[in-house]
Order: sequence, then structure tokens, then C-alpha cells
Amino acid sequence: MALSFTGRVVLVTGAGGGLGKAYALAFAERGAAVIVNDLGGDIKGGGKSSAAADKVVEEIKAKGGKAVANYDSVEDGEKLIQTALEAFGRIDVVVNNAGILRDRSFARTSDADWDIIHRVHLRGSFLVTRAAWNHMKNQKFGRIIMTTSAAGIYGNFGQANYSAAKLGMLGLANTLAIEGKKYNVNCNTIAPTAGSRLTETVMPPDLLENLKAEYVAPLVLWLCHEDCRENGSLFEVGAGWVGKLRWERAKGAILRQNTRPMTPEDVRDQWDKICDFTNADKIATIGESVQSLVNVLSQVQSGAEVGAHPASSVSSASEVNNNPAVGHKLAQSQFTYSHMQCILYALGVGMSTKDPDSLRFLYENHPEFSCLPTFGVIVSQDALMRGGLMSVPGLNIDLTQVLHGEQYLELFKPLPTSGTLTIDATVADVLDKGSGAVILLDVNAYNGDELICFNQYSVFVVGAGGFGGKRSSDKARPPVAPPKRAPDAVMVDSTTRDQAALYRLSGDWNPLHIDPSFAAMGGFKQPILHGLCSFGFAARHVLKQYADNDPARFKAIKVRFLKPVLPGQSLQTEMWKEGNRIHLQCKVKETNAVVLSGAYVDLHPASDEAPESIPNSEGLQSELVFAEIGRRIKDMGSELVKKVNAVFGWEITKDGQNAAQWTIDLKSGSGSVHKGPFSGKTDVTITVSDEDFMEVVQGKLNPQKAFFSGKLKIRGNIMLSQKLEVILKDHAKL
Ligand code: NAI
Repeated sequence: MALSFTGRVVLVTGAGGGLGKAYALAFAERGAAVIVNDLGGDIKGGGKSSAAADKVVEEIKAKGGKAVANYDSVEDGEKLIQTALEAFGRIDVVVNNAGILRDRSFARTSDADWDIIHRVHLRGSFLVTRAAWNHMKNQKFGRIIMTTSAAGIYGNFGQANYSAAKLGMLGLANTLAIEGKKYNVNCNTIAPTAGSRLTETVMPPDLLENLKAEYVAPLVLWLCHEDCRENGSLFEVGAGWVGKLRWERAKGAILRQNTRPMTPEDVRDQWDKICDFTNADKIATIGESVQSLVNVLSQVQSGAEVGAHPASSVSSASEVNNNPAVGHKLAQSQFTYSHMQCILYALGVGMSTKDPDSLRFLYENHPEFSCLPTFGVIVSQDALMRGGLMSVPGLNIDLTQVLHGEQYLELFKPLPTSGTLTIDATVADVLDKGSGAVILLDVNAYNGDELICFNQYSVFVVGAGGFGGKRSSDKARPPVAPPKRAPDAVMVDSTTRDQAALYRLSGDWNPLHIDPSFAAMGGFKQPILHGLCSFGFAARHVLKQYADNDPARFKAIKVRFLKPVLPGQSLQTEMWKEGNRIHLQCKVKETNAVVLSGAYVDLHPASDEAPESIPNSEGLQSELVFAEIGRRIKDMGSELVKKVNAVFGWEITKDGQNAAQWTIDLKSGSGSVHKGPFSGKTDVTITVSDEDFMEVVQGKLNPQKAFFSGKLKIRGNIMLSQKLEVILKDHAKL
């Protein structure tokens, strides 16, 4: 449908000739009532005449259109809007177009040359627009055009005054776009090129002839139409072509370290990187710009939780290319701690001496002094931020667009109350969720050779989806919805005003959690609590309610982070017991907003509960087989190692979900079987459902057939799967 301006009142400044005249005629032709403003002076700003505006008004009227003339300078902004209101009762569109030139080389630019250019272009646009602003706001509609110039964007010899004023108008437009947005008052900027009296001295006549003002007007009309939602953008336009411009920023280099200051030599040495536009970021808002600095600060200070919390709702530019990234290992690191950190963490997640049960986590001389199980996230997070994901090939992550989506933690041994743990982190998978990408990062913490805990971070990168990758992964630990019934238990705990200030001392130094101005830049009224702090509160509640505060009973926890919590708010943990799994959901009591969802804690059964004959907490039949394989390897491991010489990874699924992982190591020593996330490299990995596994083991399902029918998936050295028989054969008797 043709775009109509019937009922709209449009002011075009400097519409007595050139581009302005073309706009005025085009608007009028499509039904707008037009105020044709022109001072009627010469191109240097001298003189004054009503003729220019009158002629355009006559032309519009002759064609049956509606128009009135205004002869005031744009420096009398109010008067121009007054003319619109008196003649037509409203103002819908302002096209700031009036302009003059005072070209001089910079050395010869006088105060007067500088001032008049600024007065007409920048100050004139400000005054006219300000006069229209409240009318537009009140009527919840307005469209504003600023006219900048290639001379401002790129610079031009002899136009220092003009370049500065013109680019000033772009800055003005950028802010008006933000302030007007919620009132449907949009402001865009154009950099036109057209033949006019302003350009006839600087361009050859042939060229001018072909650069008609009529080739610019259609863009202006579209940007000013009510159907157009474009806001805060910049376009170059001319010769019948239109193109949008935006800023690009190099990935750059961080030149500072926590322990080392930044020097001019660092800048010199990293110059190529600072200026390298490969995979450049397209920063569109000041929020994104500031957030990236916030992320730099947390990276430098290190130990920050990945992506912390919702920062900006931008959608652009990060690229996630999963192929080279998946399987990539981050640099190994060490985490050393003493009882101090354990106690500090316990205080950070709300433990208090008010509750005598808490003392075992707060007093190092307590006979049962222990470390809270969720301290497992603290030992691992450090590894993540030291260079962390930024250095993974194939993951070009813009940290400004990273959110901490979900967290899974599993403990294989209670955490020691002091010591040095070795941290290994691997990119387990990269998923395409359309609006963003999800990076699954698996982190194992070892005490010597012994695996202590496993973390899986789900990191959501806003705007990085749509690369044609898979949507889900069998590596993911999915959240699980709680039962539909009312919760079996509810525990409420208030956080203190200083909760985040205390929690951050456990190693997440992101200023978003302490500095009000940083928080404001991220769109928060005040610094927010760390997501992993609420996570700690919730885990503590389950431990107290269902495990008698015994950290040895804690097996695993999964949460999805939904909304931020403000320090001082109360956390309400709702719990449902389903066997050894405690489903939970966490709300802010004051607002009833759910902050942690799809969450659960898995507990080991209490020692006084009926012991299970085999480690079969998941109810998987395959556990029996692996237990048996374990026994057999104990007996004849060395022989099998000689025969097989390979490490097999098993992923057993149940109802389509990953239910258990086993490593059968028949390569090193006298062989071993280990349950839990793969700790080293496997030569071949087999994924199969619990049921099909049993069918295969019992000889009811041929492994080859299972493979070709897709029931059994094999990754890695597929030839090795032939040796499976050696391991599985004897178990057909089970
Ligand atoms: P133009 O000289 O034909 O039109 C400018 C109009 O503004 C004139 O009619 C003039 O009388 C009027 N004017 C000057 N001072 C005024 C004041 N104080 N109050 C009211 N009216 C006043 O020039 P053209 O080329 O049509 O330029 C229009 C706009 O586009 C200007 O802002 C110019 O800087 C900008 N521009 C033009 C380019 C081109 O290639 N033509 C290139 C880049 C920017």
C-alpha cells in the first residue's frame, strides 16, 4: 500500500530550495500539511528573503496540496512550531535540514566562522526540535530527522566548523532516540549527497546533474512514516542508493592484570590486536559499551562468575562456531584454599551462628567442621574466568552478551576443608537456541588424582544463535519441573543488605554486585545478588530440611537462573521430596517472583536407611552390569588391558535423558571402571539407552543392528567397538 501522510503536519526547515524543497513537495504530494520554512539568505548565512519559501508553497498549492510558509531562522525554533500549531493545530514531523557553509582551512577559521555554522546547524536543530518535543511526546507520535554530512562522518578538508557541527547533530539524534522511544517519538539521521547550491562549488556539474534531491526524499518520507519503527539510526543516501551505518569495535586487548599495572609499552606491544577488526563487535548501545568494561574489570580481578547476570538485552554480533570449540580444554589451573574461604563462603550464603546447626560450617575447631557442598562452584569458577572462554578457538564471544543460564554441580567426595584442587574445564557442547547460543562448559575438580566434583555451566550468549547448530545435547543436565502438588516443605531466609558485599569475597568481583553506578548501567536499580549466592541459600535449605545438615549426603544440584534477587530480599525455597531427589523452586518472598526454577538436589540415602546392594540410586539396570564388569576387571584387568588397550566411555540414557556416564579404562595400569563424568580422554564413546544396553548384554540385540538402527551411537574410534564383545560377552549370563 502506498504510504500516506494525510492528517500529518510536517515541518521542513530550509525548504526553500535544494533537498528541503524536494522533501516538502514529496510530503505534500502524499497528503501532509507542510510548513515550508526558509530564511531565504545566501549560502554563507547572509541576507534574508521570503521568496524562496513562498515559491515552494505556491507550487504545493498549485498541485492541490496544503502548505504554509515560515521565514524565521531556525535559531528562532519556537516560532517555526508556532506557525505549525496556528495553521494546522499540531506537529508530527520535523525535518532539520536548513544549512549554510563557511568553508575555511582550519588555521583560517575565525570565531564567527565557527559560531555561525554551529548556530544554524546544531543549535538551530536543537531549538526547533525542543519546541516540537513536548507536543510529540503528549500525542505519543513524532518523527524527527537530523541532517548530518559525510564531512562530519569522515572529515573533509576546509570544513572543520561544519564537520564538528554536523557530527554534533548525530550525537543529539542518538540521545533523542533514547529519550523519545517510549513515546513513539523516533529520531534518525541522514547523510545525503545531492546537487544543490551548497555542492555546486565542490562537485562537477555532470555529477551534480545526476545526484538529484528526489533520490534522497523517499528515505526521509519512509523514516517519517508512522509504520516505520527505525530509531536512532544513521543512513548515507544519494544517487538512488541508501545504506545504514553502524559502529564497529575491535575485540581489542586487555593490557592489565590484577597484579601488574598497565604501561604505554603494553599498548605499543598489543597495537595490532587493539586495531584488529577481525570478528569486530557491533556495539549499539552505551549499556553494551559499559557492560564490556564491567566484564573486563571482573576478568582482570578474576574469579568472576561467568556472565554474572542479565546485563543487556542486545541482539547482535557474537559468533559461535561449534566445530572447533567442542571438546576444547581450557588451560588447567589450581585452586588453593584454607578453612577461611570455607567459612567466608558459608557466611556469604547466609549461614549464621543464630542457628546452632550451622556451627559445623562456621567454626574450624568444631568436631564436625565441614565445607558446604556448594563451595564446589567456588573452586571451579576461578578457572573459568582466567582467560576462560575468550580464548577458545571457534567461540568468538562478546562477554557483554553472556548470561549465566544454568548450573549443575555434582560431588563425588565431600569437599576438603582446605587444600589445592586441580581444575580442568572443557567445552562440552555448543547449542543453537535461535535467539542465542548455549555453551556447556564441564569443569572437573581433582584432589590429586581423585575427582572431587563436577560442574556444568550453561552459558547463554545472547544474539549468537541461528548458526544452524543443534538445539539440544545429550551432554546437558536438563532442569526438571517440580511435581504439581503443593510443596512438601518451605523455608524462608532473609538475605541482608550486605549479602552481595559479603558473597563477593568468595571470589566473584563483578562490580555489578557492589557498585550502584555499574548496576544502573546494566539496567538495575541497585547492585544485585549473585545468582550463585541464591543457589547457595537454596542448597543450604535442602541440606537442613532433608539431610540433617550432613554434607556427605549431598550428591548433586541443578538450577536454572530466572531473575535477579536484590540484597535484603527474602528467599523462599519450596521443596518436594521424591525419593532421594528433592525438587525445589526459589522465590523472592516480597514479590513472589520465581528466581530459581527447574531445580533439584539429589541426596545420598542416609546411612540408617536401607542400604542398596549396588550403587543404583538412579534405578538403572545397567548399573548391575558395570558393577560386575568392575569386579571382573579387578580379577583379570591386566589381561584385558593387554587385549583391548582402549578407554571406553559409556553414556547411558533413560527416557531420552542422560542418566549415567561410565568409563571403562582398559588402557592404563590393571584397568578400572569409574562412574561419573569422563575424567580423561576416551577412545570411543557409546551412547545407548539403559533398556537397549541390557538387550545387547543379554544377547537379545545385535550391537551392529543396534548401531545401524540408531539405538546405539558411537563416537571416536569406531573400530574399537569391535572389542566390546570381549568386555560384554561374559555378561550375557547375568
Ligand atoms: P541548500 O542551500 O539548497 O538548502 C539549504 C536551505 O537552508 C537554503 O534554502 C537556505 O536558505 C536555508 N537556510 C539556511 N540558513 C537557514 C536558517 N538559519 N533558517 C532557515 N533556513 C535556512 O542546500 P542543500 O544541499 O539542500 O542542503 C540541505 C541540508 O543537507 C543542509 O543541512 C546541508 O548541510 C545538508 N547536506 C547536503 C549535502 C548535499 O550534497 N547537498 C551533503 C551533506 C549535507
